[in-house]
Formats: sequence, structure tokens, C-alpha cells
Amino acid sequence: METIRQQLITDLSGAKTPQDVENARVKYLGRKGLITLAAKETDFSKLTAEEKKSFGSRLNELKNFAAEQLAAAAESAKQFGAAVGGTRKLDLTVPGLSRRLGALHPITTTLVELHQIFQGMGFMVLQGPDIETEYYNFESLNIPNDHPARDMQDTFWLTNGMVMKTHTSANQVRALERFGAPIRAIFPGRCFRYEAMDASHENTFYQCEGLVVDKNISVANLIAVMKTLLGEVFHREVKVRLRPGFFPFVEPGFELDLNCLICGGTGCPTCKESGWIELIPCGLIHPRVLEYGKIDPNEYSGFAFGLGLTRLAMMKYGVRDIRLFNSGDVRFYEQFVAVM
Ligand code: DAH
Repeated sequence: METIRQQLITDLSGAKTPQDVENARVKYLGRKGLITLAAKETDFSKLTAEEKKSFGSRLNELKNFAAEQLAAAAESAKQFGAAVGGTRKLDLTVPGLSRRLGALHPITTTLVELHQIFQGMGFMVLQGPDIETEYYNFESLNIPNDHPARDMQDTFWLTNGMVMKTHTSANQVRALERFGAPIRAIFPGRCFRYEAMDASHENTFYQCEGLVVDKNISVANLIAVMKTLLGEVFHREVKVRLRPGFFPFVEPGFELDLNCLICGGTGCPTCKESGWIELIPCGLIHPRVLEYGKIDPNEYSGFAFGLGLTRLAMMKYGVRDIRLFNSGDVRFYEQFVAVM
């Protein structure tokens, strides 16, 4: 449903004439429309009462959302047509006619792109809660109560003992418990830390976690997936290197660096003259984390990575100040045209 929703938003952002909007209506809400079919083709007899209810209400939400968006787009197309006196008489010298339909947020665009890349490699896309238990955020990741690794993440603790999730790794054991092995999944999400904010630190930012668990998974698989990912994101072949890095939930743990795309590795201000950009912490999943996820580490192994999604968007679009993403400043958002 999320894919349909994103697709609808993209289609409507490109819809100019009433006919474009009508085509979109048929595509989504028509008799053979995507949303109509999603309802028709679901075998409700296989769902529990609870699932039926949740599926039904999400579907209804999507329908209402589509109807609203289509109505707004139709109105906007009509006004635009009237204002320019019909598309045939378009006068390019008419000043300042703004349709202000908005644009996708650059994080959304990056997210949709990641969905497509990972789905192409057979990954599921999962979503976990923003408010987490201490168990999933720390304990199940081999970070016990007294472990210094907790101090590295300045945590927002809630009065009921829960935490605003500090990293998407918090979803790892949830995913393992729910789906078992073998599994390939990514779980993008918002993370929260009690940071002093500046151009490169935010208290709310996005990460995209991923994990693969199967028989005989090794570092070679990890590198292959990371290279494919980065190659597709940056539309060229990339060079990467691994350095040792410590995270209690992986062993061995790495920092994956990307050969600087600006200077090609010779050194420039972007890579702080080193030729490499630290991009993706990752590693082979610690056996204890697999055990917490009820998976036998003697039978299965896996890798995990925690991609800084906001950082990736900054690199991809050349955004120098992280605070712009949550600024709500339309002048910032309008600069991004969603190309998908
Ligand atoms: N969760 C870590 C952080 O936010 C990043 C991380 C490191 C994620 C290693 C991973 C990993 O999946 O394997 O600092």
C-alpha cells in the first residue's frame, strides 16, 4: 500500500491537465485500478479477524487519501488551464503563475530509491516503532545496562522507561523474532538522540538498517550488497574499503568507507583530504543477537548494516546543513524535483 501511495504522489506531481488527472484516477481507483485490485485480490478468508480489521482500515485510509489528492489535483489542473487560456494558448511571458503543488521531501525520494534497490535484491521493507523498549534498543543488541556503548548514544528516555529509538538497529531482533531465518530485510526509520545541534548533528534523523541471515553468509556477501547499493545510488561503479569498527551487536564489526566520488581518492575538502568517506557501519551479526532473535548461530550467520540515510541524502544532493531537512522551509524542499 505504501508503494501505491508513493506512486500516486509521483504520478500526481507530474499531472498537468485534467486528462492527466483522470488517467491517474482510472489507474488507482478505476474498476481495474491498483487500489481497487488490492482490495479484490486479497483473500480475506486467510486473514485473522484482527488482520482483516487492520488491512481494511489501512485500505480505506489509502482510498480516502487517493480521492482527496485526485480532487486537489483536478482543481489545480482546471485552474491552471483556465489561467493560461487552455494549453494551446500557453503564453510563456505570463509572469509568476505558481502551482505550488509541492515536491517530495529529499529524504522521501532517497527512501523510495532505497526501497527499489533493495527490493531488487530480494529484501523486504519493514517498519518498527519510534518508541522502543530498552530491551530492543539496547539489551537484545548485546548492550547490557552497564555497557559503555550506551553512553555513545545520548538517549531520550521517557518517563515510563521506554526510549525514543536511538538507532534502527533496534528493529533487528524484532525482525528476527517475527520472520525467523532465512531473512533479507531493510528497516528505514527515524532515530532520535539528545544532540547539541549544528550543521552535521540533528536530534531527529533517518537511518536505514538492513540485515541478511542465511546459511554460510560471509563478509563477501556484505561487501557485494554494499557495492551494489552504492553503485545504484550514485549511478557509477564505486570502490569501498572496510576498517575495523566496534559495535557490540556485530563481530567482526566494520566501518565501510566509500572512495571519495568528488576527487576520486586523491584528497579534497569533502573527504577531508583522506580520499575516503566513512559511510556505513556494518558487520557480521553477533551470535548472541541471533540467539536473542531465536535463531541458532550454529546453523545460521548473517550481516547487518546501519546506513545513515540523512547523511546519504546530504551527499547525494550536496546539502551542507542537516538542520534544513526538518526546517519546514518550503524554499528548501522546492529545490528537489523527484526523479524516480
Ligand atoms: N546502530 C549503529 C549506530 O547507530 C550503527 C550500526 C553499526 C548498525 C553496525 C549496524 C551495524 O547494523 O552492523 O551507531
